[in-house]
Amino acid sequence: MEDDLFPLLKAYGSLCPIRKLQWPIILPPTEIQEFLVEDLLLNPHFGSYPPDTAHQRSFWKWAIDNLESLREEIDERILEYYLQLLGQTKTEGLVAPSPSFRTYIWKRTGDMSPAMRRRKASQSSRYSQSHEWITLLESGTTIENGTTGLRTWSASFALADYLVKHPDLLKARVLEIGSGVGFLGIIIAKLQMHAQDNCPKSPLTRQSDVSLTLSDVDHDVLRRCQDNLALSCNSLNDHPNLSCRILDWSDVLDASLKSRTEQFMEDVDPDVIIGADLVYDIDIVPALVATLALALDRPTHSGSACRKAYIALTVRNEGTVDTFRTTAGKSMVANVLSGKALNVEEEALDERSSLAMNESLEGNHGFPVRLFVLSSKLGKQKAL
Ligand SMILES: C[S@@+](CC[C@H](N)C(=O)[O-])C[C@H]1O[C@@H](n2cnc3c(N)ncnc32)[C@H](O)[C@@H]1O
Repeated sequence: MEDDLFPLLKAYGSLCPIRKLQWPIILPPTEIQEFLVEDLLLNPHFGSYPPDTAHQRSFWKWAIDNLESLREEIDERILEYYLQLLGQTKTEGLVAPSPSFRTYIWKRTGDMSPAMRRRKASQSSRYSQSHEWITLLESGTTIENGTTGLRTWSASFALADYLVKHPDLLKARVLEIGSGVGFLGIIIAKLQMHAQDNCPKSPLTRQSDVSLTLSDVDHDVLRRCQDNLALSCNSLNDHPNLSCRILDWSDVLDASLKSRTEQFMEDVDPDVIIGADLVYDIDIVPALVATLALALDRPTHSGSACRKAYIALTVRNEGTVDTFRTTAGKSMVANVLSGKALNVEEEALDERSSLAMNESLEGNHGFPVRLFVLSSKLGKQKAL
């Protein structure tokens, strides 16, 4: 029964459009109504981090209509809540939707460590022990305040799925570029914490070689990202090596600013670089690739594998993605950096991620997502 109801929980939290919802007809209406009251309406998580009001209004109308069509008596608490939602000012269609919380929920693979159990002790939903929950405050529009970074984009969902399946990649010094509001960052931080929880001999401490730095060019985006990391429901307070920093890829192409990026890479010293949906504008490609080349071409530590970047791009326009592919693989960037072209491996990612209902977000219309794995042609380099 829990599995049949889970899609509704996921859809409610991640603001999936009502037209995509399916009523779980195989279950008795009484059970569905009990779930709606206990797991959605009275769920303390949604009390603290409510989904967008307009979304809730459509969701509860849909639920009431379905229950009524089955001649089920509607629980008073649902009716009262729906009336309350109707009473709130309706401005949709007149002004852009304001930012609201989105909660993404997925089934955990593997057992919970005692540390994870302790962190989750305060969460009471029947899905909190068996599922991962992350919550972010996100913009309701594609572009807000001149940036695309205030919402989560579809390549992030596909890359998150990939990282959940390859958590060992993240036992490293990880840098995310163009982090946006922090969806991938929160998942990476959680995976790093879980990996160390399961390895009590090398706990995650300030001295460990496992860290995460999130970066973006936009101050507002980075502030929102920091706020999202700090939401108590995301339980990241125990991660000792988590930070956010400004990084502008364009700096590397400007002789007077390039040293800023060099210093950044020196400080962060990333083994693994992550990025999702970074190429929506062809003009940004040279700066992005040059930044990646600068990060990857640095000498590695003694005994460590070569640095790698995992960049997931949504193929909205073949030409734009092809420009990224060829720029990374050709010597064009080498001219800028007096280095070598990068190794480029490529694979398709599953854009129908199980992590989130990515079709729920405007602009995420099920385009294919490609993963580019970049590394330095110098391969394993001289030990430091
Ligand atoms: C489409 S958003 C993707 C955000 C996030 N990675 C995701 O998938 O949800 C692109 C991100 O790249 C950032 N960005 C754009 N130009 C940049 C630059 N020159 N340097 C660093 N970040 C940049 C934007 O601020 C934005 O957060």
